[in-house]
Amino acid sequence: MQYRKIEKLGIEVSAFGVGCMRWPMKKLEDGTDVVDEEISTPAIRHAIDLGVNYVDTAYVYSGGRKNEIALGHALRDGYREKVYIATKLPTWPVQTKDDMWRILGESLEDLETDCIDFYLLHALNRDSWHKMRDLGALDFLEEARAQGKIKYACFSFHDNYEAFEEILTAYDWDMAQVQFNYMDVNNQATVKGVRLAGERGVPIVVMEGLRGGKLATAPDNVQALYDAFPVKRSPVEWAFRWLCNFPEVATVLSGVTNMEQTEDNLAIFDRCTAGAMTEEELALMDRVREAYESRTKVGCTGCRYCMPCPNDVDIPRIFSIWNSKFQFNETLEGNWDYRRVIRDGHDASKCVGCGACEGVCPQQLSIIDLLQTADAEMRAKE
Ligand SMILES: NC(=O)c1ccc[n+]([C@@H]2O[C@H](COP(=O)([O-])OP(=O)(O)OC[C@H]3O[C@@H](n4cnc5c(N)ncnc54)[C@H](OP(=O)(O)O)[C@@H]3O)[C@@H](O)[C@H]2O)c1
Repeated sequence: MQYRKIEKLGIEVSAFGVGCMRWPMKKLEDGTDVVDEEISTPAIRHAIDLGVNYVDTAYVYSGGRKNEIALGHALRDGYREKVYIATKLPTWPVQTKDDMWRILGESLEDLETDCIDFYLLHALNRDSWHKMRDLGALDFLEEARAQGKIKYACFSFHDNYEAFEEILTAYDWDMAQVQFNYMDVNNQATVKGVRLAGERGVPIVVMEGLRGGKLATAPDNVQALYDAFPVKRSPVEWAFRWLCNFPEVATVLSGVTNMEQTEDNLAIFDRCTAGAMTEEELALMDRVREAYESRTKVGCTGCRYCMPCPNDVDIPRIFSIWNSKFQFNETLEGNWDYRRVIRDGHDASKCVGCGACEGVCPQQLSIIDLLQTADAEMRAKE
């Protein structure tokens, strides 16, 4: 196993961290859904036996408190001492500081431990960060650390670069967990955000390194690029190699769902080190990204000639989200990206059809009609 040093914390973590979010569930006789521990326990113990020392769960995974309970069971028999546990404080059920203490207490109990190594404010975006900050979450983290209930104060993140920069620079965080992969160079925290974290000495933990599994199988036009390259690797290995190339990345979480994937990833992460990719390999990944991007719904290049829109519609952002759904054949259900655009007041319903954008679009797109279709498709599936 390859280990990566986190200078700030003086520890080493395995480059491959096991994400528990996708653990399989089963139904008990009374109809209750629980994690299928006959599958999850041997899988995670096997990964730990082979050197994984970082495991990621959350209070809310598997339907609320169930994932942490299953992890607590899996880490009995001496396994707890072999790993760093990361778990998360959900922001949405928190209304007071007492809620934070209650949830932390339940996590400690469920995980059967006295101290959580990495404690994260879960899935921060601009709004939830403001809410947690104003409720005193930073004081809570400091106090919990002083009491020995947590070791490191961290956050996980889902929003854009501006929000990431605001949160990252507001506190001396011990770690930031971000959605990052070769498709998200300009999305979510972005490469710029990962570099900024590195400059501030804040280690990055990667989630959705395979875009939730979407990058594990390549569509024909992408596979053709891999096939033409002299070195043969699986799409999964290319994706993980690209991530491990960043020295800012401490560990890459992978939500493996079976033993074969665990074995595959253990082998891949042994081979991928920081700064190891050649210029030709990096250029291949740029072409792969372009090949995915060519599978678009609308030919917007993001040049932003159409901006600012007099009615504040974020035209390039809307088209980028819409395209991404089609590139990976994603369902439009649970479309959090578009919900954030609506939250920010920049969604397509604000368009009054003034046409200022169409007159300046270098691609001569029928922006007004396209916005209406995008809005109808994405909003219908909210
Ligand atoms: N803090 C947050 O807001 C947040 C959000 C998302 C995730 N996370 C954490 O990050 C972890 C990782 O995220 P993720 O599960 O989305 O990661 P991911 O690595 O992008 O996707 C995991 C999926 O990739 C596929 N996969 C993994 N290894 C593979 C292999 N060797 N070959 C083929 N397919 C492979 C599997 O898909 P199939 O099941 O389809 O085979 C697996 O379910 C989660 O478990 C969770 O702990 C945190």
